[in-house]
Amino acid sequence: MIAAMADSRASKPLTLVFEDEAATARFARKLAAVLTKGDVIALTGGLGSGKTALARAVIRSFLPDEEVPSPTFTLVQSYDTPHFAIWHVDLYRLSSARDVRELGLDDALDASVLLIEWPERAAAWLPADRLEIRLSFGKTATARKAELTGHGNWAGRLAALEASA
Ligand SMILES: Nc1ncnc2c1ncn2[C@@H]1O[C@H](COP(=O)(O)OP(=O)(O)O)[C@@H](O)[C@H]1O
Ligand SMILES: [Mg+2]
Repeated sequence: MIAAMADSRASKPLTLVFEDEAATARFARKLAAVLTKGDVIALTGGLGSGKTALARAVIRSFLPDEEVPSPTFTLVQSYDTPHFAIWHVDLYRLSSARDVRELGLDDALDASVLLIEWPERAAAWLPADRLEIRLSFGKTATARKAELTGHGNWAGRLAALEASA
C-alpha cells in the first residue's frame, strides 16, 4: 500500500505568477540554484507561453553570455557548465518514439540537466523523477502562470523551491 503510493507520488501543484519576463528570469535563477545532474524539467504549455524564455533564463544563470537559440529545428542544443551539461530540448517536431531514443537523451541524463519543451511528445520516455512546469498566459500581455508539479523525488524538492520562490 505504502509502496504503491510512493511509486505514484506527485506533489500538489504549486501555482506561481510571473508578472513580466524579468520575474520569469528571477524564478529561473532560483530553479537553477537547486539543479543537479540527472534532473529533468518538463516544460509544457502552448506556443508563446514562455517555455523557451524560461529555459533560456535557466541556462543564462550558468552562462550569462550565451545566446540560447530555440532548439525548434535542431531538437537539442547542449551547453557545458562547470557542474554539468545542460541539454535544452524541443520535441515539437519529433516524429516518433524511436526518434527520441536517437536523440541520446538516455545517455545524456546521468551527467546532464535536461530542460524539455513539448515533453508530452515523449511521454513514455519521461523519467519518474521530474519537475513539470505548465505555463499559460496570464491577465496581462506579459504575465504568465506557472503550475509546478513535482513527480518522484521532485515532490519533496518542490517544497524547498517554493520556500525560495
Ligand atoms: N512573463 C513572461 N515570461 C516569459 N516570456 C514572456 C513573458 N512576458 C512576455 N513574454 C514573451 O513571450 C514570448 C514567449 O516565447 P517563447 O519563450 O518562445 O515561448 P514558447 O517556447 O513557449 O513557445 C517571448 O516573446 C517573451 O518575450
Ligand atoms: Mg519554445
